[in-house]
Amino acid sequence: MLNLQFPSRVKLVEVGPRDGLQNEKQQVPAAIKIELVQRLQAAGLKEIEVTSFVSPKWVPQMADNAEVMAGIQRKAGVRYSVLTPNQQGFEAALLSQPDEIVVFGAASEAFSQKNINCSIAESIERFAPVVAAARGAGIYVRGAMSCAVGCPYEGDVAPERVGYLAGLMKGIGVQHVGVADTIGVGTPLKVQRAVEATLKHFDIDDVSGHFHDTYGQALANTLICLQLGVWQFDTSVAGLGGCPYAKGATGNVATEDVVYLLHGMGIETGIDLDRLIDAGQFISDFLGRSTNARAGKALFNKRQA
Ligand code: HMG
Ligand code: MG
Repeated sequence: MLNLQFPSRVKLVEVGPRDGLQNEKQQVPAAIKIELVQRLQAAGLKEIEVTSFVSPKWVPQMADNAEVMAGIQRKAGVRYSVLTPNQQGFEAALLSQPDEIVVFGAASEAFSQKNINCSIAESIERFAPVVAAARGAGIYVRGAMSCAVGCPYEGDVAPERVGYLAGLMKGIGVQHVGVADTIGVGTPLKVQRAVEATLKHFDIDDVSGHFHDTYGQALANTLICLQLGVWQFDTSVAGLGGCPYAKGATGNVATEDVVYLLHGMGIETGIDLDRLIDAGQFISDFLGRSTNARAGKALFNKRQA
């Protein structure tokens, strides 16, 4: 039977500064990234994925990771996370004192190879000492599970592959996992199966959704997750984003659109939608294009009229 019980409160992890900007061709100065983080926290975002400590040869846009982390003015109650693919990235990240790190693996072998240059099994071997060191230092560890419904190289990804990866992540001490539709091909029942496979290894409170919106399904996928009891989602202001190793994939679902959906359903987020729209406008103006947030755009136009 259709579950119409929804969480009363949802936590959004803003990934715009990292997932959003990593794929931008034009170099975005550190000062702009810092200003964006400032505006996002002023809008009430309580968790911000700021940057990634990956190879600057692979992802040049994130080469200013330490500068951005040093430049942000930390606000009490806000948690700042960064991506760390290996020990080298973790050691560099440690100097920036993140509250949380993200190890990122994939449910498909081909994507693992293209994105982080190793197999799924090798990635787990690389993550294990990073997870242990982070937890030893009191840093929370999140795991991202890419291609949880579809892969740009392998096509459909079976839920069993997601369950397998979730089990491996749990086994090395990862505390929370994100079910990621990297290329935005998922539809609600496929996403449901990927989430259910994950729930065999992680509690509902330790699972989040990360939906790219390439095929316009991200809000529907978010809604079915809410019905399953998932209450944490990664979203990106102005719908920025894409992965350099997932050609054709567009941005994450826009934070503005998810906030509009949630507030419209009476679900609390602690986010001021007006200020969030301003943050989205700020980065869209810098990038010289109009926002990908549908609700953001509609509300902005209404405000102008
Ligand atoms: P590799 O080439 O296999 O690494 O890269 P290596 O250990 O053989 O080292 C080779 C060179 O890279 C060396 O430099 C190392 O120093 C350097 P050289 O001697 O040639 O000058 N290196 C590093 N430099 C800086 N930071 C590091 C680092 N590690 C090695 N951490 C690696 C392996 C993972 C580093 C590489 O493949 C990489 O950086 N990949 C980028 C992956 C990435 O950032 N992808 C996008 C983020 S994931 C994503 O967007 C998906 C997500 O949003 C969820 C979803 O939507 O699915 C999270
Ligand atoms: Mg992503």
